[in-house]
Amino acid sequence: MDVNTGSPTLVGEGFELRALVRPDADALLALLLQPGVARWWGAYDAGKVERDFFGQECAYTYLIIVDGEIAGVLQFHEVTDPDYKSAGIDITLGEVYQDRGLGTRALKRLIRYLIDERGHHRMTIDPATDNRRAIHTYEKVGFRTVGVMRDYERDITGAWHDGLLMDLLAREFGAE
Ligand SMILES: CC(C)(COP(=O)(O)OP(=O)(O)OC[C@H]1O[C@@H](n2cnc3c(N)ncnc32)[C@H](O)[C@@H]1OP(=O)(O)O)[C@@H](O)C(=O)NCCC(=O)NCCS
Repeated sequence: MDVNTGSPTLVGEGFELRALVRPDADALLALLLQPGVARWWGAYDAGKVERDFFGQECAYTYLIIVDGEIAGVLQFHEVTDPDYKSAGIDITLGEVYQDRGLGTRALKRLIRYLIDERGHHRMTIDPATDNRRAIHTYEKVGFRTVGVMRDYERDITGAWHDGLLMDLLAREFGAE
């Protein structure tokens, strides 16, 4: 069974987060191929969409829906060992939906769900160190820098680049 089956729709201000389903695969790939997304999320094809969004246990994917359109993707991966329980988050918005406050609002909505409904006390996120907009956005949401992970991920040019590990604790997350 698809790991996303059963994820509830989460309603936010001007958007909703809806679980990814298989018929979304082509539209998701089209979003990931936009240059302003691929620059930060790397190279995708249909096979990688299948592996990353449908084939991973404990990795759940939501689409960010605005006026019925797919505006972006939010994914979280759960560490289920009770002694290390946490949720790692990834986000991207389609080019025309960036820089409107949507990323901040969508992240806050997902984090509220992760805390209240899935019992998480710690969330992590790991932007590229040169993704200043993403880092600033995550700081607005409440994430703090833990440190630099050197040569953490390969970018679309094939080069390794550093990632910034950031975390946020439930007890520091304000009422939204
Ligand atoms: C990163 C992303 C999720 C942020 O969502 P968003 O809706 O665009 O962000 P918001 O509009 O909520 O906030 C953006 C903030 O960054 C600021 N900003 C924009 N460009 C910036 C830059 N080059 N350097 C620093 N800050 C920048 C904006 O001024 C705003 O801050 P403010 O509200 O204090 O003025 C979105 O831009 C995106 O998907 N980008 C492309 C893919 C990507 O980078 N994904 C993240 C991978 S970790």
